[in-house]
Amino acid sequence: MKTLILKNTKENIEKSAEIIRRGGLVAFPTETVYGLGANGLDGEAVKKVFAAKNRPVDNPMILHIADIEDIYEIAEEVGEDAKTLMENFWPGPLTVVVKRKAHIPDETTGGLDTVGVRMPEEETARSLIREAGVPIAAPSANLSGKPSPTMYKHVIKDMDGRIDAILCGENCQVGIESTVVLVAGKTPIILRPGKITAEDMERVLGKKVQLDPALEVDVKNEDDEFQPMSPGMKYKHYAPDAEMIIYEGPEDSVLKEIENRKNQLEQEGKKVGVIVFGSYDFETAAHNLFANLRQMDEDGVDVILAGAVAKEGLGLAVMNRMLKSAGYNTIKL
Ligand code: TXA
Ligand code: MG
Repeated sequence: MKTLILKNTKENIEKSAEIIRRGGLVAFPTETVYGLGANGLDGEAVKKVFAAKNRPVDNPMILHIADIEDIYEIAEEVGEDAKTLMENFWPGPLTVVVKRKAHIPDETTGGLDTVGVRMPEEETARSLIREAGVPIAAPSANLSGKPSPTMYKHVIKDMDGRIDAILCGENCQVGIESTVVLVAGKTPIILRPGKITAEDMERVLGKKVQLDPALEVDVKNEDDEFQPMSPGMKYKHYAPDAEMIIYEGPEDSVLKEIENRKNQLEQEGKKVGVIVFGSYDFETAAHNLFANLRQMDEDGVDVILAGAVAKEGLGLAVMNRMLKSAGYNTIKL
């Protein structure tokens, strides 16, 4: 398949919207990561997304909308908590999981009776959705298992020849995927941590927000009771080609240990990459993590030595992605 590589001009956004309406696939920028979009109401189109990504079919997609009101076409029920979260954090990096309407195809929801909905902030994304006139189902625009794309060159690398078009915009500001929160019950539950944190949501809701217990387990765990509630969270994810080790502990010990290990490995003839952010430099870490991982693959790095960031605020989301990238390969100092 010939993939059109398009700059995000008005004309090209219209062209892309037309492709989506006709059942084709278009990758596009959002403020979190690049998405791979299809008409979310067209089961056949959504099937093509799974094929293009090699994605397991039980993993549901997020529906992207251009205006808050559009959720009422998709959701059977939008409770008070969902409304409060939408009013406070949309447009933005938050996906609410709500009861779905019957006409949403099973391909989109992975057969679940709920559906994830997000209104992105990025202008290109919103124009594309509005122009298409349908909710756009869009997972991250990477091959399944690879780090999510935060620059259009990442999308070209993974998707050229596999989809109809790539809309090229800016690098993604946030750099990791949206927070996914289930708001179908009494207590909201975070299924995937992201930039909008539990504390952010608690502040506007005035009540406790839970974390899916499976997210707190930082070892590879095959036990049933620790299976995450969000289907997508159970897969090996974000993995670079290189072996990756995360060092956790006081910043100076981590830096020293990484330096030592790097020298050792290089003496063994290995190519080593280092990823270290300040322990509390969460925004930079989120913005750069996936791009750094991809760069290391491009450079043919054998081993990546990474420093952990603190597991709080946005750091929780960064560590969630980092641990998965490393297959939970951690050394505590
Ligand atoms: O930031 C983002 O959310 C990006 C951009 C493109 O918007 N999209 C994204 O999509 O990350 P994807 O498909 O890579 O991740 C969607 C996550 C998966 O973990 C999936 O299992 C979960 O959301 N999810 C979607 N619908 C769900 C549902 N009804 N119940 C539980 N989890 C759901
Ligand atoms: Mg993804």
